[in-house]
Amino acid sequence: MTPSVLIIGGSSAIGQALARHYASCGAKVTVISRQRPRQHTAITWLQDTLSTEATSADIIAQALTRQPDTIFICNGVLHDAKAMPEKTIRQLDTDILAARFASNVQVPARYMKLLFGYLCKQPQVKLLALSAKVGSISDNALGGWYSYRISKAALNMLVKNLSIEVSRLNKTAAIVSIHPGTTDTELSAPFQQNLPAGQLQSPDATAKRLANVAAELSAARTGFLLNWDGTALTW
Ligand SMILES: NC(=O)c1ccc[n+]([C@@H]2O[C@H](COP(=O)([O-])OP(=O)(O)OC[C@H]3O[C@@H](n4cnc5c(N)ncnc54)[C@H](OP(=O)(O)O)[C@@H]3O)[C@@H](O)[C@H]2O)c1
Repeated sequence: MTPSVLIIGGSSAIGQALARHYASCGAKVTVISRQRPRQHTAITWLQDTLSTEATSADIIAQALTRQPDTIFICNGVLHDAKAMPEKTIRQLDTDILAARFASNVQVPARYMKLLFGYLCKQPQVKLLALSAKVGSISDNALGGWYSYRISKAALNMLVKNLSIEVSRLNKTAAIVSIHPGTTDTELSAPFQQNLPAGQLQSPDATAKRLANVAAELSAARTGFLLNWDGTALTW
């Protein structure tokens, strides 16, 4: 059977690289994005403006007619025109915290809720939510980046919870969060200067790595927070 991949938050640099990678491998590729469809004959693009849960439900229903075996959720915001990540709690703006929660947790949670029935019945289905190593509580040695760290830690809990609930009904599903590794995108652009040589990956290289992890993923690892090379990270 032709592999089928659904990429949510698919206009992201990493999401687009995933779409290109899977399309070049001959997979059926479906993208869900807030953005208008982009011209690409090999990719089915569904626009979800996120206006209501009912409209998202309709978009998910359309996407599921393509029976995806692998689903990525790429939504995530570190900074925007309104705010850079906080260096100290003195810079914390709770409206920005709420906005990061919306993009990094609420939107993935909405899609996971809408995917739940499918995840519970589709054999060997895989869901990978793009998280971040800085969302690991035990790995946090530097502090800072309050809103992003808090929201990614919450995303990791969301994934863990979902993995437990789905596993009661579908023992073959694998639901994980994954750190894609530092990738050359707008998200990381302001923080690339002091990176050790070789740490920054292109979106295409990251997409290949994520696809390799997805290919090897099995239900034995459901609920894990994974690194880009497939090793488990601590919470
Ligand atoms: N780049 C890195 O070094 C790095 C490192 C660690 C983790 N990550 C994670 O990897 C994922 C993709 O990162 P990227 O670098 O490819 O990011 P990017 O190009 O900046 O893409 C941002 C993504 O977030 C979504 N988004 C933006 N604003 C949103 C909002 N208000 N509500 C809902 N969704 C919103 C966009 O979805 P639409 O398609 O709907 O516009 C898009 O998918 C993110 O979750 C990020 O946290 C990246």
